[in-house]
Amino acid sequence: MNTGLLHLHNLLRWVVLITLLLSIVKLISGQNALKTSKILLISAHSTLVLGLYQYFFGAFGYALIKNTVGGMKEVMKDGAARFWAVEHITSMILAIVLITIGHIRLKKGAKASTTATFYLIALLLILSAMPWPFRAGIGRPWLPGL
Ligand code: HEM
Ligand code: HEM
Repeated sequence: MNTGLLHLHNLLRWVVLITLLLSIVKLISGQNALKTSKILLISAHSTLVLGLYQYFFGAFGYALIKNTVGGMKEVMKDGAARFWAVEHITSMILAIVLITIGHIRLKKGAKASTTATFYLIALLLILSAMPWPFRAGIGRPWLPGL
């Protein structure tokens, strides 16, 4: 089950990325982005729930801090451990918070440029904290299970 949930987490990242990009394009070009933005919000929150599960019950989250002799101090010195124990979760939660605020603002009738700004920052955070296959030590497959 664990593997299946991780595969879902991997796959949902594409739904998040595509709907995030599409929302930004629609917001900038003056189209109605509400529906796309809602799909984005739901997929981002689902990715969050699956991520929290991985973090607390999988091998690449809290377990890294708990099982490392020296704890957090040593984890922070090891690039790969730091990425999984700290960087991925922090950046992604921040990005999802920005997506949530951006979506709610949009729903409440704020200017499109306000939401577009929130979404752009979220996009940069997500792109930077992604375990892209080409990233040394932390690379993961483009698609689940490849
Ligand atoms: C760790 C789990 C989750 C947390 C902490 C969380 C947090 C939040 C927060 C803070 C809001 C904003 C509420 C507001 O002020 O209106 C929200 C809204 C929402 N969330 Fe989540 N959420 C979680 C999981 C989910 C899941 C699993 C789904 C669906 C699959 C989901 C779908 C939504 C939707 C549809 C909204 C409505 C936003 C709107 O249009 O007003 N969330 N969530
Ligand atoms: C939009 C937000 C997110 C994206 C795009 C994303 C993306 C990814 C991707 C692509 C992987 C690799 C999956 C694989 O190996 O097939 C991954 C792994 C992981 N993610 Fe996320 N993630 C997000 C949010 C989160 C959050 C909020 C958390 C923690 C609360 C989290 C925790 C994890 C953990 C612990 C792993 C490694 C699991 C393992 O291999 O045991 N992710 N994430």
